[in-house]
Amino acid sequence: MTRTRVLTGITTSGTPHLGNYAGAIRPAITASHAANVESFYFLADLHALIKVTDPARVQRSTLEIAATWLACGLEPDKVWFYRQSDIPEIPELTWFLTCVAGKGLLNRAHAYKAAVDRNRAESEDDDAAVTAGLFMYPVLMAADILAFNANKVPVGRDQVQHIEMARDFAQRFNHLYGEHFALPEAVIEAQVATLPGLDGRKMSKSYDNTIPLFAPRETLRKLIMSIVTDSKAPGEAKDADASNVFALYQAFASAEETEAMRRAFEGGIAWGEAKQALFERIDAEVAPMRSEYEALIARPAHIEQVLRDGARRVRETHVTPFVVRVREAVGLRDLSRVAIAGSDAPATRSKAALPVFKQYRETDGRFYFKLVDGERVLLQSAGFDAPKDAGQRMAALKREGRFEADATLQLGEGVERDEVDAALAALQAAQDAT
Ligand code: TRP
Repeated sequence: MTRTRVLTGITTSGTPHLGNYAGAIRPAITASHAANVESFYFLADLHALIKVTDPARVQRSTLEIAATWLACGLEPDKVWFYRQSDIPEIPELTWFLTCVAGKGLLNRAHAYKAAVDRNRAESEDDDAAVTAGLFMYPVLMAADILAFNANKVPVGRDQVQHIEMARDFAQRFNHLYGEHFALPEAVIEAQVATLPGLDGRKMSKSYDNTIPLFAPRETLRKLIMSIVTDSKAPGEAKDADASNVFALYQAFASAEETEAMRRAFEGGIAWGEAKQALFERIDAEVAPMRSEYEALIARPAHIEQVLRDGARRVRETHVTPFVVRVREAVGLRDLSRVAIAGSDAPATRSKAALPVFKQYRETDGRFYFKLVDGERVLLQSAGFDAPKDAGQRMAALKREGRFEADATLQLGEGVERDEVDAALAALQAAQDAT
């Protein structure tokens, strides 16, 4: 059974918060338990460099995010869990994809366009303060995905365009060099909770309104108490559906608990009381993971080991052999295998285009063979008395990959030796590739 490959990347630029947990981490870990999927989770630290220029913050965030996923129940021996920068094939693949990526397509990337629009609004040069890293972001992301031939990529809506670009680059590459890349699909989780932050807007690092997932218990309580509400007094009925406190509660509570809270809102529960209930509900879910998290954070060398080990194994089984084929496909090859300049590359010749050996018997009763490339006869044997002798001469040619003329074997009419050597090299490369 081939399992569907599902791949998730997490940029290491911040501290995980409740919104990340309910919207991404919790559903991803649940999904990883399905039997028919092979899951890939990685820390996108190369992507972090595009936004974060504080080295200590990149390091700290990488540690925190790795510890978070482990504390939340990710099992590193059941899924692939690694750090992007531990896979040197990813930047290598990024370059191959860069060379097929349309610049015009990249010009239309939302993040880049937004930067240009901001510059225009301020009458700046279009590309003021825009790095090539930001511009190339979608290509690096495509390499993350295509390096593993991932089929499905669960993402937020803001990332869908990136997956479409990855498909586009993959298609262009496949068109030029043969079918190497699977075309990935974005999966937008319809049910994914977007949590409100402290101020009621979407919880997000960029609004500075987050509640860190593993804030110490007392900090968590204080933050929850600081959530902005309206000024309805205790005893006054409150609208659950318009309340951030209720929305947060719902993301952590069962259906029954949520119903009970809805009735409490109608019955005029005081904000302080509702927030206390919210704090207790969240803490009940988070507390066991928090102690695991604290234990993990205290052992950074262990986390380092887990990540390195994950990268080593995933390279061995997936990326390294794959990128060897991709290098070969684009023409980064062992020079001793290329016979003549200008000929099609042996390894990329399609099966139909490969030269073939043909064995046959003539009316003189003897056994012959020839090497033909389409209509063209490259080599012609003399007649052999036994089919076995013809077969042996042919097998030696295939094995050695080179041709010496003798009484039993001659070049076809008008054929150059180089052409024969190229044909034999192509056959050998095709043989090796199977
Ligand atoms: N760009 C993604 C984000 O900001 C993170 C990411 C990097 C990613 N590489 C990826 C996500 C590959 C999915 C697949 O959320």
